[in-house]
Amino acid sequence: MNIIRQSLVILGMIAAPAFAASQVSISIDAGKPGTVINKNVYGQFAEHLGTGVYEGMWVGPQSNIPNTRGWRNDVVGALKELHVPLVRWPGGCFADTYHWRDGIGQQDKRPSNVHANGSVDQINAVGTHEFFDLIEMLGAEAYVNGNVGTGSVQEMSDWVEYMTAEGGSPLARLRAQNGREKPFKVAYFGIGNELWGCGGNMKPDYYANLYSNYEHFLRAPEKSRPKMIASGGSGFDTAWTQVLSKELKDRTTGISVHQYTIPTGKWDVKGKDLGFKEGEWISTLANTLKMDQLIKDHVVVLDKNDPEKKIGLMIDEWGTWYDEVGAKSALFQQNSLRDALVAALNFHIFHEHAQRVPMATIAQMVNVLQAMILTDKEKMVLTPTYYTFQMYVPFQDARSLPLAIKDNTSYTLGGLTIPGVSASAARAKDGKLYLALVNTDPHKATDVAVNVAGAKVTAATGKVLTSTMMDAHNTFQSPQAIKPATFSTRAASGKLSIKVPAKAVMVVALEE
Ligand code: AHR
Repeated sequence: MNIIRQSLVILGMIAAPAFAASQVSISIDAGKPGTVINKNVYGQFAEHLGTGVYEGMWVGPQSNIPNTRGWRNDVVGALKELHVPLVRWPGGCFADTYHWRDGIGQQDKRPSNVHANGSVDQINAVGTHEFFDLIEMLGAEAYVNGNVGTGSVQEMSDWVEYMTAEGGSPLARLRAQNGREKPFKVAYFGIGNELWGCGGNMKPDYYANLYSNYEHFLRAPEKSRPKMIASGGSGFDTAWTQVLSKELKDRTTGISVHQYTIPTGKWDVKGKDLGFKEGEWISTLANTLKMDQLIKDHVVVLDKNDPEKKIGLMIDEWGTWYDEVGAKSALFQQNSLRDALVAALNFHIFHEHAQRVPMATIAQMVNVLQAMILTDKEKMVLTPTYYTFQMYVPFQDARSLPLAIKDNTSYTLGGLTIPGVSASAARAKDGKLYLALVNTDPHKATDVAVNVAGAKVTAATGKVLTSTMMDAHNTFQSPQAIKPATFSTRAASGKLSIKVPAKAVMVVALEE
């Protein structure tokens, strides 16, 4: 290849020349079903940040953009397709400056305020009732995050009571006056966020004491008491998990961890969302694969302090984070095929750790970081990450199956080497056997020979997401530039082989 052509290929601007396909074989043991993959690992995070809530999802009932009680019909319709199981709200860092009383009662009488993150002129049109309206439209569960940083025990206790109390309580009566007789269902309640940073620069021991104090006063009927989440450390920092799992046994059902994927691994210069070189393709995937070791590190600590496995590791912020250059709103970034692979690789890791990871909420749902959907006024585009979530819907509440990859290829560039193929299999609620495959190599297709112990597979049908470009993405002008294609293949001479294109995510149902 001449130097100009080679550069264009590396930049992803023209298709790479055909490389011979590699070969790997995968064995699935359908007779040994493992842990159920909690559907909540496919959860979402919607923070009042940038245009994540206002504009991206909420336009208000008076808007010309078609909406239902203020929520955009196009966005809600698209999210329904993902069977969103859980939504975390209202933050993030925002949560520790949010005062829930500002968001109830008549909308036009609610105060406006600017929050500590400075990125939003908070109009408070979306408060508790509006959030649950969205949740109920989506058929999702609610993960509400409370305010430790600038709130009080009384304020948090009142919020939980307002949401969950039955008729007799004064706060339940206030809720009814505001239009909601029956309690809201709060599946999870987070006691603060990133207390080591934006939540108040605390040390874990100090927070552990605060947590106990807050949790003690959170009143909710026993049958509908939310599962309480303690806000844990960042990334590989297990010190918080160590202290919280030791000190808060029986007071928490989960400890959260946040882990973002940054192409360069450095917060000051993170890397671009588009137009990146192959070096940042592989480094992004290599960095995202660190999620596996991260979970293992936290699990070692949990296994020591909580051998009964009562405490879950909640990855309640994860996803890609790129440099914000001229972004149209805070933390707005484009989303390409690379993000689709990041999502799929993380799903495989979550499936693998299903015993300890019952919940993960990607950051974030709309217009912020690794979003499902991008909006611009009345326009909306679905991102490659959206399509990955859609393709993996059968894995929600499916039973994971043991899977072994033999002779896996590797993909190497510069000093980095990562597995060529990543795979995950499960028996879904519809009774079918599903196989998910990722080919990380941007140049080479891989032929995957599939063997299922105890079953004869005759065909595979499903969807594949790929492109000639590493940074293929959808824009408001070209919203269908990348979307999944249907895929099917039949066994030949009793053998099933699936050709996974270069740089692809694939999910297929196997016919037995
Ligand atoms: O997701 C964006 C921000 O990242 C969240 O507000 C915060 O919790 C994290 O630092």
